[in-house]
Amino acid sequence: MFSETIHGGRLHAAARELSLEPGSVLDFSANLNPMGPPASVLAALGGALPGALAAYPDVEAPALRRQLCLGHGAQDRHLVLGNGGAALLFLALRALAPARVLLPEPCFREQPRAIRGAGAEAVSHPLADLRLDLAALAPEQRRCDAALLTNPHNPTGQLLPAQALLDWVQAHPGLALILDEAFMDYHPEESLVQALLERPKTVILRSLTKFYGMPGLRVGYGFADPATAGRMRELQEAWPVGQLELVAAQAALEDTAYASATRTAFQADAARFRAALAGRSGIQVLPGAAPFVLIRLLRSSGTALAGRLRQRGLLVRMCAQWPGLGDAYLRLAVRGPGDQDRLLEAMDGCL
Ligand SMILES: Cc1ncc(COP(=O)(O)O)c(C=O)c1O
Repeated sequence: MFSETIHGGRLHAAARELSLEPGSVLDFSANLNPMGPPASVLAALGGALPGALAAYPDVEAPALRRQLCLGHGAQDRHLVLGNGGAALLFLALRALAPARVLLPEPCFREQPRAIRGAGAEAVSHPLADLRLDLAALAPEQRRCDAALLTNPHNPTGQLLPAQALLDWVQAHPGLALILDEAFMDYHPEESLVQALLERPKTVILRSLTKFYGMPGLRVGYGFADPATAGRMRELQEAWPVGQLELVAAQAALEDTAYASATRTAFQADAARFRAALAGRSGIQVLPGAAPFVLIRLLRSSGTALAGRLRQRGLLVRMCAQWPGLGDAYLRLAVRGPGDQDRLLEAMDGCL
């Protein structure tokens, strides 16, 4: 069981508690594509039933693997499929087996859990002013043999330019690296997958659940240098991804119209949301480029505001228990204009 202090997105639990249908709760607490899963995915899932349930998953998934490799300039030996980006994070750490992992904080809360789960120590690098300054990130000074970085970062939304991050990585040749690119589909040009495919002890994680709005299906993928990818596959159980997930992933990746509509809508929706939030007194909007916005409340408690919004069927991500943040912060997913207006209006009534 995990609680709201660890993750957002507890839509079903909130609906039960408020005696509402899940469809009438608006979730700004998880960073999911507000367009919902592509129609092409729903059609593919429907078409795959009941056969997908009646046989073990086709884990070789040749068409999906080919598509992912083509899309990232990689080869099959680099690719590992898994039960979501989070599962692959745990797997990557077990495969790399580091002793001390440098971890910018605040961070996605599964990250320190995964490091500890692999028997390693999470060495915190607190983000001054909630910004990652690569010049100050010094694994050697902290006796770390690995680093776990996230780009764009969760929860700050900071996007590091690919070249700056690549320069930093190349300046640390012996270091094992896990780079979590769960939100990189919004900025594919800043991905380091292709540049790092052959770097030893390197894993880059990608998620399909956020950009394609389907977190109920657990499917993600990672690219690693061939030795690490092989070790990850060795450590995986026999059927790491279900057949419905494989079918959904392939249909999603083929749907290039959905991907470009998402990127176009995201640019406009994020700009509108940021401007509307910044225009309200008592709210500071932190700069970012992710499909969520981190805000600081200058005069109110985040927990109290989140509680009042929840009564109106609006979920936002509280940060009171989030190491490195605190009760003044809230994280809000970028949704479409109608949903934004509903939230903003409710916030105006509550602040
Ligand atoms: C940085 C980061 N990585 C990975 C994940 C998990 O992704 P998935 O749904 O593919 O397991 C999340 C989910 O919030 C995340 O924020």
